[in-house]
Amino acid sequence: MGNQDYKILVVDDDPGMCQTISDVLCEEGFSVDTLNESVEASRVLTREEFDVIVTDLRMKGLKGLDLLGVTRKIHPPPPVIIITAFGTIESAIQAMKMGAYDYITKPFKMEELVLTIQKALEHRLLKKEIIRLKKEVEARYHFHHLIGKSPSMQNIFSLIERISESSSNVLITGESGTGKELVARATHYNGNRKEGPFIALNCAAIPETLLESELFGYKKGAFTDAKSDKKGLIFEAKEGTLFMDEITEMPPTLQAKLLRVIEEREVRPLGDTVSYPFDVRIISTTNQDIQALIREGRFREDLYYRLKVIDIEIPPLRERREDIPLLIQHFIAKLGKDSKKKVSGVSEDALRILLNYSWPGNIRELENVIQRAITLGQHEMVLPEDLPPLMTRETEGDALEKALKMRYTVDQLEKEYIKRVLIEAGGNKSKAAEFLGLDRKTLYRKLREI
Ligand SMILES: Nc1ncnc2c1ncn2[C@@H]1O[C@H](COP(=O)(O)OP(=O)(O)OP(=O)(O)O)[C@@H](O)[C@H]1O
Ligand SMILES: [Mg+2]
Repeated sequence: MGNQDYKILVVDDDPGMCQTISDVLCEEGFSVDTLNESVEASRVLTREEFDVIVTDLRMKGLKGLDLLGVTRKIHPPPPVIIITAFGTIESAIQAMKMGAYDYITKPFKMEELVLTIQKALEHRLLKKEIIRLKKEVEARYHFHHLIGKSPSMQNIFSLIERISESSSNVLITGESGTGKELVARATHYNGNRKEGPFIALNCAAIPETLLESELFGYKKGAFTDAKSDKKGLIFEAKEGTLFMDEITEMPPTLQAKLLRVIEEREVRPLGDTVSYPFDVRIISTTNQDIQALIREGRFREDLYYRLKVIDIEIPPLRERREDIPLLIQHFIAKLGKDSKKKVSGVSEDALRILLNYSWPGNIRELENVIQRAITLGQHEMVLPEDLPPLMTRETEGDALEKALKMRYTVDQLEKEYIKRVLIEAGGNKSKAAEFLGLDRKTLYRKLREI
């Protein structure tokens, strides 16, 4: 950029001074605006962008310091060079404290002013570059509502990009709270079906008997309660995405029917005599070891291959700890806004605990921990004392002794124990459930409350 690309505003209530400075700067090739009226200058500043502002300190109307205050509200604030007479040096120091770039005292040589302006411009360019780079990095770590800088998350972002033109079915696997639903939504809203609906069906939440009619619909009179025709979700999701959460909870008979439907690309609603074609992409999820379920004969292998044309595996948070600081900042910004508390970050000690914890409940648990810390905390920073005590003592000695000392309720002790067993089982929930003598559904329910 040549000097003519830089706009400089000179403000001085002495027209002679303004003119002299302007002449010199114009000779240097800068674009210069001069104003003798400081109130007018403050108005111009809100409308126009300048690269450097040169202002006298003592003026009629608005003082130089007030004008400086106005510039501090601009993003990014332009550098301000204060011109000051010998007697007002104290105000000049105050101006520096308020964020002025530099000051020069009258009388001064014009070369001195030009040199200071050159330095101020360099400073501004660097600042702008930093802002630009920061934005670029942030953009790389954000994908739709997903956040992650770890290689595994970056791979997921680029995979979603690569499949944006495809309508192939996607199977998303990962432990509870790892962000499966968020990944599913990002896949939908980044794909060529984004104008179509995203229809969600949780296979674990709907009684087995209703699942089929929800999915495929029915004709009036198909069964006692079928008072009128009902359109199945597979038709509701036309030209969009059918999101089937916790797919492994689907009963075997329905698995067989879904397989047939996918292969034949048409559906016959309950009680109907005709089959209808449908146009959906299926994105399904599971937080279970689906391979094990296939080996045990509890999930159909042929259906598995139909669903996982593309598979996305989201690693647990403990395997991508580099994402933790980013996620903490994200949740503090998001949740702090709602609570109106001024929390700006976590202390070093608290961060150490958060980084070392095993996060069996993954990102959902992290979000809850931050929510709790914001609610309970009384400082600008989240401190270790704002974190759940169970967390800070995760790896410490005798649990019963500790439980006694801490006056844990049975509920707290149970949560602690479940988390511990999960770590022991390497995060494998089927193993953990067996160890704990719980059925898997109960374990999932309990994990969700952690
Ligand atoms: N990468 C991420 N960036 C920001 N927030 C995330 C990320 N992953 C998950 N979350 C947040 O964590 C919470 C849990 O995510 P989500 O519901 O997608 O998990 P899930 O894998 O579907 O869990 P479950 O198996 O229990 O259904 C949500 O509030 C979600 O917004
Ligand atoms: Mg989910």
